[in-house]
Amino acid sequence: MYDLIEIQNAVKAHLKPSRYIHTLGVVAFAEKLAEIHGGDLEKVRVAAWLHDYAKYASDGEILEILMANDLMIHPVVENHLNLAHGQVSALLAKEKFSIMDDEIIKAISNHTFGCPHMTLTEKIIYLADGLEENRKYEGVENLRELAFKSLDQGIIAMSTSTILYELKQGHMIHENTILMRNSLIAETKVEVS
Ligand SMILES: [Fe+2]
Ligand SMILES: [Fe+2]
Repeated sequence: MYDLIEIQNAVKAHLKPSRYIHTLGVVAFAEKLAEIHGGDLEKVRVAAWLHDYAKYASDGEILEILMANDLMIHPVVENHLNLAHGQVSALLAKEKFSIMDDEIIKAISNHTFGCPHMTLTEKIIYLADGLEENRKYEGVENLRELAFKSLDQGIIAMSTSTILYELKQGHMIHENTILMRNSLIAETKVEVS
């Protein structure tokens, strides 16, 4: 069984101050979304605390951990291994902090790119990572309001904004982000015009 106090102390000692402040923001925003939308507060808290644990792992460490766990190196992360920090944080959450709950592990693992058919905890962590109070970008206020009303509509709108940004940067788009957005549009039958 994990110990939340131990996790909090380890995260504080492990992260740079700016990343720690972001993590506190993700915890607070995730708690708020869980309260509004009936999420599991305990699971959401643990996932939020650990979601960026591997943010400062070196490329070598990331490669080593992924390969030791027989995980493929996705083309999107191949030249930017740090983008795999969610997957690595999830593996470390299991190894170092004895987190065995699959919903928590998947929420940590999928927080960067999202994933189709996410659980409530995954949806909350995906949104909280992009919308916590320290995030400053055009449109973030509207996205927050939307997420308070509907997690699915919040995710559709936030992933639209992420995809547009990445396209403009000339970056590849992870298919999980596209599949997540497609599946939510199909389920909710609302397209963003
Ligand atoms: Fe992250
Ligand atoms: Fe994050």
